Amino acid sequence: MLKGKKILIGITGSIAAYKIPLLVRLLVKQQAEVQIVMTPSAHDFVTALTLSTLSKRPVLSKAFDPETGQWDSHVELGLWADLMLIAPASANTLAKMTQGLADNYLLTVYLSARCPVFFAPAMDLDMYKHPATQQNVKSLVQRGYQLIAPSSGELASGLCGEGRMEEPEQIFERIRSYFAKGQRFKDKKVLVSAGPTYEAIDPVRFVGNYSSGRMGVEIAKAFAAQGASVTLVLGPVSIVLDLSGEIDVIPVTTAQEMFDGCMAFFAQADIAVMTAAVADYRPEEVSETKIKKQADDLTIKLVKNKDILATMGSQKREDQFLVGFALETDNEIENAKKKLHTKKLDLIVLNSLSDAGAGFGHHTNKVSFIDKSGETKPYSLKSKTEVAEDLTDTVFAKTKNVNN
Ligand code: CTP
Repeated sequence: MLKGKKILIGITGSIAAYKIPLLVRLLVKQQAEVQIVMTPSAHDFVTALTLSTLSKRPVLSKAFDPETGQWDSHVELGLWADLMLIAPASANTLAKMTQGLADNYLLTVYLSARCPVFFAPAMDLDMYKHPATQQNVKSLVQRGYQLIAPSSGELASGLCGEGRMEEPEQIFERIRSYFAKGQRFKDKKVLVSAGPTYEAIDPVRFVGNYSSGRMGVEIAKAFAAQGASVTLVLGPVSIVLDLSGEIDVIPVTTAQEMFDGCMAFFAQADIAVMTAAVADYRPEEVSETKIKKQADDLTIKLVKNKDILATMGSQKREDQFLVGFALETDNEIENAKKKLHTKKLDLIVLNSLSDAGAGFGHHTNKVSFIDKSGETKPYSLKSKTEVAEDLTDTVFAKTKNVNN
């Protein structure tokens, strides 16, 4: 699982640094390639000799060594890694990571890293509890960095409380399960719909909605990161698409195009997640020329669009898993459950509009998952990236017996 995986470990100035050689040993035993980067103060707590011996690579601490003239590119190192771990992450480094400061080599590598970054804070309990530190941890998590939360116990100061860096075996397990997760949907085909649809009134006007497409894009990315080959049928959106992995984007504009795009792939899909805010109605007639302003009022007759999700539900095979979204403003759970049954879904994601920071346009969302048996799991307000992770975890748990 870890063979050949490139892992960058950034060590900062905290007594918990003494535990990192054990972690390096565990990783190297599994044939991972480990590169250590240390901040200047990390050297006060653990020796570079121990770490370079165990990792079988020179430890890096600065970009330029004036004695040898050697220059190490932080950008190359940031691109080299499959995963970066900052452990122990001191309060000082957490603050700098949050602010984007780059006053040492470790931080420049961190800012250049394109891979997932995990961080394991270690400090005294009052430093960890301090609102500034808590705010920094929260910001980093919201940006999608993975927190390896400190545990409670006796600290180096003699005080007892939260702030003790997680044990090397637990950190190793998080890294191992991250790479295992990367293969969870290997050989699976996933269909995702996202964004709004635009229904033309005339050549310059349309009926549409505020959907940004962000939730669906995050879901497509999460499945792709876990090994799936993803088809993303995407309505007109203005967000920047930083897609990686196997994601095939089918751009569409109208509900009919989205219907055609989705139905062309549905039969091959193992999993379908319909997040799109499809227009329920379209103008019956589309004027070929721009409608001129005339009378004081204007009536546009709308006719119903086909329901993509319901059509899929009616054609769904036993081996397919179908997820819908419900955006409700009242009788939320009851309405979502009704939708789950009428559209024959396996799971419905109830999107709350009543909570600040949830719904259209935000980077965060507050959802509940409801399954066929009626089991309802509410989640707290999270980044859309985290919601997408929660969804892939749930879909994996519910499909692993069916498909594997
Ligand atoms: N959906 C779809 N095709 C449509 C309308 C909706 O695939 N024509 C999907 C959405 O992508 C979402 C789910 O159905 O996953 C719920 O959409 P929503 O608009 O909330 O449900 P409706 O059935 O349209 O009910 P209502 O608007 O009355 O709440």
